[in-house]
Amino acid sequence: MEYPKTNKTLRFFSIGGDLKVIEKEVLPLAANEILVKAHAASINPVDIQLWHSGFVGRVAGDKGMGRDYSGKIVAIGGDVKGWSVGDEVFGLLFQPWLPPQSSHQRRVIIRGASGGTGSWLVQLAKKVYNCHVTAICSSKNAEFVKSLDADDVIDYTSEDIISTLLSRRAEAQEYGLLVDCAGGTELLSSYVCPLKSPFWFEAKLIGSQSQLLNTKGAYVTIVGDKTNVKQLGGPITYLSSPAQVVRYIKGWIWGPRYACVSLYTKSTYIEEVALLVERGEVKTEIQEVIQGAFDEREGWRKAIQLMEGGRVRGKVVLSIP
Ligand SMILES: NC(=O)c1ccc[n+]([C@@H]2O[C@H](COP(=O)([O-])OP(=O)(O)OC[C@H]3O[C@@H](n4cnc5c(N)ncnc54)[C@H](OP(=O)(O)O)[C@@H]3O)[C@@H](O)[C@H]2O)c1
Repeated sequence: MEYPKTNKTLRFFSIGGDLKVIEKEVLPLAANEILVKAHAASINPVDIQLWHSGFVGRVAGDKGMGRDYSGKIVAIGGDVKGWSVGDEVFGLLFQPWLPPQSSHQRRVIIRGASGGTGSWLVQLAKKVYNCHVTAICSSKNAEFVKSLDADDVIDYTSEDIISTLLSRRAEAQEYGLLVDCAGGTELLSSYVCPLKSPFWFEAKLIGSQSQLLNTKGAYVTIVGDKTNVKQLGGPITYLSSPAQVVRYIKGWIWGPRYACVSLYTKSTYIEEVALLVERGEVKTEIQEVIQGAFDEREGWRKAIQLMEGGRVRGKVVLSIP
């Protein structure tokens, strides 16, 4: 393929303003860059959030949408080693935070288990870390989440999550980790910290009856206390939510830990995930492949609508011919 003169990108120019597909000149490559012809891309919740955030909206220049991609390398900068023109590549994937492998099986709860991040967390927790996974999803996604090998599924539309978790916890042991991929404070009452009561011994008593997570465990959210799908999530929410900071400090001192975390984009993790997919050990769920991303069909509009709805199963892919 010849070095292209232009490419098409989906851009916005002001906070929450109109999105437009524009044609841009492809600049000569810097020595440490590669140029990829994308064949598929996706719009993630974070794209919607950045588009609506004052944070990015105020930075000068145009801003793009679409974070994950796959495609073929068409040109390579002089200093790049280990890659060749024609190599098939993909990039920017969510790398979850999970407890290290341990001699006994860890019990993990994953909320939002059917989405783009949750469906990976369930599989990686099972396949890589050999955890016992309790997945929280709606009834329409229960069979799908079971097919990812979740040991236990709780339907958040018909069951009281906390009491169901507590009743199932009683049969075994406290959970080691809760990962929330949906956001909000709905499950926070499960996060009992010894500091809840000013009297340490009393708090221990309260904790022993209603504590879901063991004190060496962790409550991890990738979203934060906010629920608005258009508002930026992740660690930036510590700035707007002092309650999260207090929770973090209390958890750090007394446990269980509380953390609102961000994704890693380390390439070795991505390579590990690619190997798992190639070996068929984990599966990728695609709810829909949308055609005509950049032509008169304006497929990108549908992708945005679906992501704003917050009910996507796995991923929605934009095909880029
Ligand atoms: N911190 C970070 O680095 C980081 C990285 C990636 C994503 N995120 C954030 O994490 C969130 C999820 O991202 P995503 O890509 O997984 O989104 P997504 O693919 O849009 O996930 C939506 C899924 O969540 C489920 N869901 C919605 N409400 C739920 C609830 N109350 N309980 C359980 N499940 C629920 C939906 O299933 P039903 O239709 O069955 O309800 C749907 O399958 C977003 O806010 C995103 O911004 C943060």
